[in-house]
Amino acid sequence: MLRLDGKIAFITGAGSVGEGWGNGKATAVLMARQGAKVFGVDLDKKALEGTAERMRAEGLEDSWISLPCDMTDNDQVKAAFDACLARFGRIDILVNNVGGSAPGNPVSMSEEVWRHQIDLNLTTCFLACKHALPTMVSQFENEGKGGAIVNLSSIGSMTYQVGGRVSAAYAASKAGVVAFGRSTAIAYVKQGIRVNTVVPGVMHTPLVENRLVAQLGAGDAKSLIAARNASVPMGRMGDAWDVANAVLFLASDEARYITATEIVVDGGMTAARPSQ
Ligand SMILES: NC(=O)c1ccc[n+]([C@@H]2O[C@H](COP(=O)([O-])OP(=O)(O)OC[C@H]3O[C@@H](n4cnc5c(N)ncnc54)[C@H](O)[C@@H]3O)[C@@H](O)[C@H]2O)c1
Repeated sequence: MLRLDGKIAFITGAGSVGEGWGNGKATAVLMARQGAKVFGVDLDKKALEGTAERMRAEGLEDSWISLPCDMTDNDQVKAAFDACLARFGRIDILVNNVGGSAPGNPVSMSEEVWRHQIDLNLTTCFLACKHALPTMVSQFENEGKGGAIVNLSSIGSMTYQVGGRVSAAYAASKAGVVAFGRSTAIAYVKQGIRVNTVVPGVMHTPLVENRLVAQLGAGDAKSLIAARNASVPMGRMGDAWDVANAVLFLASDEARYITATEIVVDGGMTAARPSQ
């Protein structure tokens, strides 16, 4: 089940902001465990080294190639896809994992932060698809196998805030990811390419300790973690493996009839929220 033998997976944000497991890092290791060769890109060289270390620890080093790349920069994105093709000759799976939140409403947020949020969360998906889709189309024309694309959104696209704070640009850009995914899925449905989105809820990734404590003015990590756990009907945050397992399923051949849709991974949070 869910084997990826012979497949090449291009994963963006394949590192993690700190020690432990971010969503991209867990997805990279999980896909390598399932037999894929993984081409991982990340802005941060050190973060890629952290993923490489985990691959080595599991004897998966031959399944991992990485390249530093700013996924908001079209030239760098093109160079990364060219490098992946030069190394592996194909792309079967694209995981658009890069993203992150900044709090603020249209008045409190600077234009610079707004534009960066749209770039980080949405333009990264656009640029990656721009360079991956032609390869997937030619694979479909030549051998009947296109590819699978999985984007990462957030329940912030439905609840409109992060940790109780309005994050207008994050909500808008992550809702954009869902619409972009559905629209691209329909555009390529006849060419053997599936596009779906995973919508995580509050997850315990290194981002909580490394960024959210300061960003949300939470004081200390312990109280932020307790509040995040308490906010979920299941009584706890999910983790990067919950996200990675959903990404793996959508990328796998077992999901062959699934396209233009989303899997929400949130411990029941969005279903249980008060009606608006
Ligand atoms: N952690 C959560 O609670 C949560 C919840 C909902 C959605 N998500 C989404 O999941 C995804 C991953 O989240 P995470 O918690 O693992 O984050 P993370 O910050 O640990 O990992 C993201 C990685 O992306 C890299 N990155 C940042 N900007 C980049 C750029 N311009 N080009 C290339 N790489 C870049 C970072 O260096 C980092 O290694 C994001 O899209 C995030 O919005 C996370």
